[in-house]
Amino acid sequence: METFNIIDQSDKYILHTYGRDKIAIMRGAGVHCWDSEGNQYLDFLCGIGVNVLGHCHPKVVEAIKQQAGKLLHTSNLYYSQQQAELAKLISEIAFEGQVFFANSGAEANEAALKLALKHKPGKQKFLALEGCFHGRTIGALSLTSNENYRKPFSPLFGEVEFLPRNDIKTARAAIKEDVNAFFVEVVQGEGGVNVLERAYLHELRKLTEDNGVLLVVDEVQTGFGKTGKMFAYQHADILPDVMTMAKAIGGGLPMSAVLVSERLMGSLAPGDHATTYGGNNLIAAVGKVVIETIIVDNLVDNAAKMGRAFLKGLKKLAADHDELIREARGLGLMTAIELTAKGPELAKACRVNGLLANCNPGNVLRFLPPLTVKSKDIDEALAIIEKSIKEL
Ligand SMILES: Cc1ncc(COP(=O)(O)O)c(C=O)c1O
Repeated sequence: METFNIIDQSDKYILHTYGRDKIAIMRGAGVHCWDSEGNQYLDFLCGIGVNVLGHCHPKVVEAIKQQAGKLLHTSNLYYSQQQAELAKLISEIAFEGQVFFANSGAEANEAALKLALKHKPGKQKFLALEGCFHGRTIGALSLTSNENYRKPFSPLFGEVEFLPRNDIKTARAAIKEDVNAFFVEVVQGEGGVNVLERAYLHELRKLTEDNGVLLVVDEVQTGFGKTGKMFAYQHADILPDVMTMAKAIGGGLPMSAVLVSERLMGSLAPGDHATTYGGNNLIAAVGKVVIETIIVDNLVDNAAKMGRAFLKGLKKLAADHDELIREARGLGLMTAIELTAKGPELAKACRVNGLLANCNPGNVLRFLPPLTVKSKDIDEALAIIEKSIKEL
């Protein structure tokens, strides 16, 4: 199919809920992918942080083939070896507890929300942070601060207050016994790669603990090595009550999970929550291989090392082009440059020059390279960004 046909047919038959770049990606291998015109891209977005092993990693492809030939799906009415193995592995790399499997980040947060409602019956009070993003279903959207996303669907669910980031004083005033849960991303992804301070996270943990408020850490985007630790909360040496994850875990297949700490394990009883596909045999088998590969190939350390090199390069670019770049920031491979203007134009110029990145929100250019990224890819990306800046 020619590119214009793909675009025409899509525009005719698919609801226009996404603003899409006018390219169609046809093939991927490692850190590269190719569009329908044969153009090659260095993929520093990876399906918005999903393809952490790069495109079509041989172990992921093999796991899909093996499991697809055996059993794809049986529903959650029966036990599943693949789920049992994956849940054990998640608990081992995070904290002691039990897992609920779902299909998307928003759904994982919906499950956490329901758990928090049951935890404090009769209350519907939640706290989250300015700039946060927890998903687009009604419950998850209620916890998402962006007014553009909220307004068309308001009034939303519950009583949700958005607090300024890293402001201990407002947190202290807001965290009270009648609050069900505090939802937090250690590094806000969609909000523009905003990193929370360690001292702030410590204080949140203490205040929520003291007031019986659940601390729900949303690791949908940060999880599985991207920040240079397996999970971002581990940078702050705190333990969440509930952790939600998605994106990386499915290796490109739609999967999410909620890990609930030991003391809350009885909170959701049979019938309280369910989903037909959640953690089906195929996806759970792939999830296990994704995590094992991250561990065996030492990819968290690689992410930390490559992330430091990339951020150093971005900071140099910021210093050299301070008229355009306000700040370079990030943690591990979750990195961004905030521009004074022309964010979408720079994202487009980078794409034309062979680098995929994302401009969201406003003028923040976000990079989420795979954990497998190498020094030469980092150097190439920095060279493309610099070339694109000069062209603007
Ligand atoms: C931190 C965070 N939470 C939740 C979500 C929602 O995930 P999904 O798009 O899979 O529903 C996202 C998506 O980008 C996210 O970054």
